[in-house]
Amino acid sequence: MVLSEERMHSTIDKYEAKDFSYFFKTLDGFSEEMLKLHYGLYEGYIKKVNEVDAKLKSADKSSANHNYSEYRNLLVDFSHNLNGVILHELYFSNLTDKYTEPTEAFKTIIERDFESWDSYLEDVKAAAMASRAGWAITGYNYRDGKIHNFAIDQHNLHVPVFVRPLLILDTWEHAFGTDYGTDKKSYISAFMGNVNWHVVSLRFESALKAETCHVIAEE
Ligand SMILES: [Fe+2]
Repeated sequence: MVLSEERMHSTIDKYEAKDFSYFFKTLDGFSEEMLKLHYGLYEGYIKKVNEVDAKLKSADKSSANHNYSEYRNLLVDFSHNLNGVILHELYFSNLTDKYTEPTEAFKTIIERDFESWDSYLEDVKAAAMASRAGWAITGYNYRDGKIHNFAIDQHNLHVPVFVRPLLILDTWEHAFGTDYGTDKKSYISAFMGNVNWHVVSLRFESALKAETCHVIAEE
């Protein structure tokens, strides 16, 4: 196996917020006020993931315990804040104020796994309604080679491994409460009208090119 030199030497010591303000004034069905508020929460996750990451380096590991320990709390908070960062970046970057279409390759695989494009869209909406304060995601499952929709609660509960996220939908109330109150269904419809299918398709094609990471010893 050839290791990627770039990846071997490409690291960051501090997370920095990415800029998504380019569509804050123009996204259909999402007010600027709501998007700014939402972006502010994302900046909060950036701050906290850096804070927890630094604390992990000096945490007391000798007292690590599954009932209660500083190290356990930091590990849980690290996954909460790291996923909070990554999921928001994937969410904001799969929104657009422009009309986009999925690629033929993505559409073909969706029709294979969901029978039709429309039944896939219905499945995404159902996953979003089924998710609590959390996320609905469309993901490519490396184990069965198929596309599935998943419901994630919070940022780090029920997160499937060996699954590459393609479409990300925020179902926390902070994502829609300002404009939609408790009307989650209308928010989901507005979201579906703003999906950047080009980006989602590129994520799918990138998933097909990546190593499966699924190394199992065989006799
Ligand atoms: Fe959010």
